[in-house]
Parts: sequence; structure tokens; C-alpha cells
Amino acid sequence: MQARRLFQRINHLTLFIALLGVSFSATVFAAESPSITTGKQLYEEHCIFCHQENGIGQVGIAPSLTNKELLSIATDKFLIDTIRDGQDGTSMAAFSMLGSSGIQAIVAYLRSFEKLPSRAAEVDRQPDAFGDPRLGQQWYEQICSTCHGMAGEGYAAGGSGTAIGKRGFLSKASDGFIRETIRIGRSNTAMYGFQGPTAGLADLDDREIDDIIVYLRSLPTYQATVE
Ligand code: HEC
Ligand code: HEC
Repeated sequence: MQARRLFQRINHLTLFIALLGVSFSATVFAAESPSITTGKQLYEEHCIFCHQENGIGQVGIAPSLTNKELLSIATDKFLIDTIRDGQDGTSMAAFSMLGSSGIQAIVAYLRSFEKLPSRAAEVDRQPDAFGDPRLGQQWYEQICSTCHGMAGEGYAAGGSGTAIGKRGFLSKASDGFIRETIRIGRSNTAMYGFQGPTAGLADLDDREIDDIIVYLRSLPTYQATVE
């Protein structure tokens, strides 16, 4: 009798442990993966002050990091290198102290906002821009400088656009990334697309866009670092 009761009790205990195991693994699967959770924590500790909650950005302080066009054309390398090295001459500091696993966790967190399929590999493989920097300069000064500054110095010039004439950006962004950003823009920001039926301030053709990229790459702040 005694032995039977003990046996039953053990059986109940096993069932209980088994159920606990099932519900435990169910919660683990339902929750975010550990690196996204870590990334969110690190983001809230180090980035939210400027890039805001959910990475929506704030005009004149920091760009959006969860913008769907940005995430669909930015490679992990671009994001990781930018976070690790920062962007010289802007308030975007270097976060190398977070280590590569910390930075990768932040990127995983940002990627969890992705809404469009990634085109990053294709965009990154696009050929380098080829064009006339003098024509590019004219376009740049007419349309881009109001927001990005006359020399591409970004917020420092009082506009809403980032420092696209500085090496912090130019040394990491591929020509394909710059080209696609100009073409399609970034929704919910002042950066409208500049090509096709939805173009904002001007409808530029491929050659004109390349002229602008070649002009940006000819700026002294960038040239000083590639020569
Ligand atoms: C003190 C404010 C500040 C903090 C804190 C900050 N950033 Fe930035 N970040 C900026 C600014 C300003 C820029 C744009 C710089 C420019 O003008 O080119 C930027 C740019 C970026 C970019 C490039 C975005 C693009 O559109 O190309 C990434 C990626 C980025 N930050 C990630 C982070 C991450 C991740 C953290 C936290 C680890 C962080 N930043 C913390 C101010 C900040
Ligand atoms: C009305 C203002 C405005 C104009 C005009 C404008 N931009 Fe922008 N641009 C922005 C803003 C704002 C952002 C960053 C979006 C954000 O804050 O999330 C941006 C982002 C960019 C980026 C991405 C930079 C990065 O750090 O990833 C590139 C490249 C760019 N613009 C190029 C251009 C070029 C070239 C022109 C002219 C043909 C132009 N922009 C005209 C406001 C503007």
C-alpha cells in the first residue's frame, strides 16, 4: 500500500515536471531571441537618448534607425561599422566598447523592425558611380544643400539632413547605398525620393544621381582620407 502511494506521488511529480518543461519551452519559443532582448537593452542604455524610442529618430538630433527603406538597403556591415566607429565630426560617437557581440545584438534588435525584403546585397554590389562632379555640384547646391548643408556638414549647418559630405558617412556607404537612398528616399522623414512618379523636389535621372555621388566623393573632407 505504502509503496503504491509513493509510486503514485512520484508519477504526479513526473507529470508536473513534464508539464512545467512544456510550458517553459513554450515561453522560450514565444519570447524574442536572446540577442534581440540584449540588443534592446543596449539600445535603451546607449542610443535611445538621440535615436528615440523604437529608433524613430528626431529631426536635428539623430536619424531614424528603423526606417523601412534604410533597413532594406543597409548591409549589416554598414550598420556594424557605423556603430563601432561612429561618424567623425558629428555627435554619432564610436561604440566599440560594446564589443562585436553587443553591436551585433543591437543590429538584430534594429532588424526586428524590418518591414521590406532586404535588397542590401544587390544594392551593395551596384557599380560605382561614374559622372561629372561639376554637374553634381550644381544639383547638390540647388536641391540638397538646404537640408544637408552647403558642404554636406549635416545638422551642424542647421538643416534636417545628415552629414553626407563627411568621411564618417562616405567611407562606409557604398555608391549603391547612396544611389538608392537618393532614388527612393526615406519615408516619414524630410528625405523624399528624387526619382520616378513619387519624386519630391526634383525628378533626377540615373546620370544626374551619379553626378551628385561623384561630387560628394570629390569633397575635400572625404578625399583627405582616401589619398
Ligand atoms: C549623442 C547622440 C547619439 C547617440 C547617443 C547615438 N547616435 Fe547614432 N547617430 C547620431 C547622429 C547625429 C547621426 C547622424 C550623423 C550624421 O550627421 O551623419 C547618427 C547616425 C547613426 C547611424 C547611421 C544611420 C544612417 O542613416 O545612415 C547608425 C546606424 C547609428 N547612428 C546607430 C547608433 C546606435 C546603435 C547607437 C547606440 C549604440 C547610437 N547611434 C547612439 C547621434 C547619436
Ligand atoms: C528637405 C530636406 C532634404 C533634402 C532637400 C534632401 N535630403 Fe537627404 N536626407 C534628409 C533627411 C532628414 C535625411 C535623414 C533621414 C532621417 O532623419 O531619418 C536624409 C538622408 C540622406 C541620405 C542618407 C544619409 C545617411 O546617413 O544614411 C543621403 C545619401 C541623402 N539624404 C542624400 C540627399 C541628396 C543627394 C539630396 C539632393 C538630391 C538630398 N538628400 C536632399 C533630408 C533632405
